[in-house]
Amino acid sequence: MYAAIRSGQLQGMSSTGKRIAVFVLPLLLGVAFLACGCVKQPKRIIAGPKRALDELPAEAGVRLRKQLEAVFGTLQRPSPPQAIFDWLDTRAEDLRAGAREYVRLCAHCHGLNGDGTGPVAKQLFPRPRDFRLGIFKFTSTGTAAKPTPADLLATIREGIPTTAMVSYEVDYQHRPAAIRAIRDYVIYLGVRGETERYGMADYWSGYEPDEQSLSVQANRVLEFWREAGGQVVEPPDAQLTFEPGVLAHGQRLFRSDVTQCAECHGPAGRGDRPDLLDPEKVTDIWGHYSPPSNLTVGLFRGGGRPTDLFRRLYVGVKGTPMPAQAENLTGQQIWAVAPVPLSLASPPLCRNPLSCTASAKSLAFSAAVALPWTRN
Ligand code: HEC
Ligand code: HEC
Repeated sequence: MYAAIRSGQLQGMSSTGKRIAVFVLPLLLGVAFLACGCVKQPKRIIAGPKRALDELPAEAGVRLRKQLEAVFGTLQRPSPPQAIFDWLDTRAEDLRAGAREYVRLCAHCHGLNGDGTGPVAKQLFPRPRDFRLGIFKFTSTGTAAKPTPADLLATIREGIPTTAMVSYEVDYQHRPAAIRAIRDYVIYLGVRGETERYGMADYWSGYEPDEQSLSVQANRVLEFWREAGGQVVEPPDAQLTFEPGVLAHGQRLFRSDVTQCAECHGPAGRGDRPDLLDPEKVTDIWGHYSPPSNLTVGLFRGGGRPTDLFRRLYVGVKGTPMPAQAENLTGQQIWAVAPVPLSLASPPLCRNPLSCTASAKSLAFSAAVALPWTRN
């Protein structure tokens, strides 16, 4: 994919077009290959403009804001379509409480409306998620699928290692209902934000959105969220192993043209290929710098449990250049390549995490070792 950009094959396209071609098209193609029986096929991916409401001509912006309010209520007093309450099994007062807690705990990073531009966002790498695209990096679900509510709760409880997204497990232990309400509010912001973007897309394509069309869109977006539960990727039987024959097989795959893992992450996994360190060229679907991870750190944003790693390789990291291998590799091959990132950790914290817990404890790194493996 990076090669395509370099060789100029996509030069004729607008930068947004490029981004879509580079990241959304592979996602779409990936969907076509999800036929290995691991996952039910998602119906379609949601794409659209990333522009802010403020970029509409003033009058149109005010109109769309009012229409959104009619469908979703205000950010402080959310009153979305009843179907959202039914699906999340929640009530208006709980969602309102979720809104208050979100403002207290999350909005300084994720923004009041969930657009990822809270006041501290600019100081962070990676940037806080913009929920309005309805795309999440670390989910249990297939390539184009939304996260499940359980996935979002897991992210909030466990945090995203090595990023500013910390764990809210302590809060969850004390006030599980409050944290669940925040999670529901994040889903509300996601559905609302995506509907807003559809409204803007309508406007830019010459069609005036109205309350009715927004309400139809809102329910359609909700339908994608609801479908995600049926699109969970269950790794096939077999487990992550550090048996030398399997690891050697995985290392060959890592360096192969089929996976191109080494092409992006480098043969030693350091993610330091100079041309991939250019923030202008190497971006994710949110428009932010997205270089290949340095795998020698030994910590994984999406978790280091065997199932996490399987899903990350099978589905990729959504919205980023990290591609899905669903179309390239069989389940067994993914299980062979999954231990390779763990084995690249330097210093070798724990070459065999399946049996390393005791010896790792003696290392100064034990906390770091335990974190990716158990994640919570
Ligand atoms: C200090 C800043 C900060 C705070 C506070 C914060 N987050 Fe985040 N959050 C981030 C960053 C940064 C990311 C993106 C990490 C990445 O891209 O790997 C993120 C990502 C996420 C994601 C997306 C995960 C995915 O799979 O894409 C969710 C959901 C999320 N945060 C929810 C919350 C909630 C809910 C709260 C409040 C309880 C919260 N965050 C508080 C910084 C923050
Ligand atoms: C086109 C470039 C590219 C290719 C090919 C690629 N990766 Fe990645 N990889 C990335 C990027 C970019 C990220 C960072 C994603 C993010 O934002 O968290 C990443 C992240 C990762 C992570 C970290 C996931 C986490 O939870 O933090 C692992 C592990 C990984 N890649 C392994 C692999 C393996 C194994 C292969 C081959 C099967 C591979 N990658 C192929 C670009 C690539």
